[in-house]
Amino acid sequence: MDRIHVRGGARLKGEIPISGAKNAAVALVAVCLLTEETLCFTNVPAVRDIFVMFDLLRHLGVEVEWTPSPGVGQGGKLKLSAKQIASTTAPYEIVSKMRASFLVLGPLLARTGHAKVSLPGGDAIGARPVNYHLQALDALGAKTELIEGYIVADAPDGLRGAQIDFPFASVGATEHAMMAAVLAKGQTVITNAALEPEIDDIGQCLIAMGAKISGLGTPRIVIDGVEKLHGAEHPVLPDRIEAGTFAIATAMAGGEVELIGARENMLSALIDLLRQTGVDVKATNRGIAVHRNGANLKSVDATTEVFPGYPTDLQAQFMALMTIADGTSQIKETIFESRFMQVPELVRMGADIKTSGDTATVTGVKTLKGAPVQATDLRAGVSLILAGLIAEGETIVNRVYHVDRGFERLEEKLSRVGADIERQKT
Ligand code: UD1
Repeated sequence: MDRIHVRGGARLKGEIPISGAKNAAVALVAVCLLTEETLCFTNVPAVRDIFVMFDLLRHLGVEVEWTPSPGVGQGGKLKLSAKQIASTTAPYEIVSKMRASFLVLGPLLARTGHAKVSLPGGDAIGARPVNYHLQALDALGAKTELIEGYIVADAPDGLRGAQIDFPFASVGATEHAMMAAVLAKGQTVITNAALEPEIDDIGQCLIAMGAKISGLGTPRIVIDGVEKLHGAEHPVLPDRIEAGTFAIATAMAGGEVELIGARENMLSALIDLLRQTGVDVKATNRGIAVHRNGANLKSVDATTEVFPGYPTDLQAQFMALMTIADGTSQIKETIFESRFMQVPELVRMGADIKTSGDTATVTGVKTLKGAPVQATDLRAGVSLILAGLIAEGETIVNRVYHVDRGFERLEEKLSRVGADIERQKT
């Protein structure tokens, strides 16, 4: 298991290229199951979760042609061709590794009328049920049943357009409903759809394949089913969570970093908070520039919300920032029930954090101290690396495979802007 060693204290200066969005890419690749023709993607991040999706797609009979990025942040190229579906079963061994792989259920069902996909189960950040996904497929006329840990779904006469009203604006369920409805007979109207930019990206890809979708970026998405979809080319949108993580890294370590490819309109909630802490953030013609001189950071409260609110995927990183701010900050997590896994590890580094229910109270300390710590999940893991950037001495982050699920060449990107960080392969 690889480890990351960080020695704190270096200021950051330079440019970081932002990769394609992991959360968009893992869903986008499932779209290939909807057509016999080839789908080509560019700006695909080389992260572990994508490779898990490749394994699953190959198992289903998809030809996967992957050309890695020639340099840091340039993005890989991917060709996916699902000429024939060899299997409609997504096995537990693969789906249990990564929850987003459950998204193959809708496309398999829409294309073949049948699918058997393992339930993903919970993970470190919460129970994470799939009831809204199944609500959408049921509304579209599928018969779904839970058999020995698998969802077995049938729609022998095809899916039918329907009204889908989500009780909560779930990202995955909105994506899933959209992917299934594009080949359904008639019109589907999704209300209380999630607004996250990754949903728009998936919608744009489906439109390039011939789908008829309107209302993307609003809570009401209307889909007129088509008989067939065709091949297309699609660039994956930039990763707002990666960009936000490096913005927070710069705010913590101090210095000046331009995040190339980052988009201001996808990060407005974070930018607002960073400005309140005293960090200078501005849009440039290539991305976003973040600057902090030696001035102290001010404590600011944060509450995670659905987009365009503050993202839960940047909660742990913001908490790391608040550990060294002047004063006390309340951080409230409203999206997932157990997403404070980073707290005991940050406390081992000298942070003053108390949790009660969904709220963490962080009182800033003068300095953190390096320590061996453990990544427990993707975003919690990266928050420890950020803490290591400013801690006295050396921080060793173990179980870094969690971080590799969603960050491409993280230590390379940070060391290019001056961080003292390296990976130790074991
Ligand atoms: C996606 C992101 C994840 C991010 C999350 C919230 C991907 C691959 N992952 O996850 O990084 O943290 O959005 O922005 O894009 N829920 C149910 N029933 C369901 C579905 C969800 O109760 O059927 C609950 C979940 O347990 C959670 C909340 O709704 O508490 C949000 O989940 P959702 O928006 O669906 O997140 P994901 O799509 O799983």
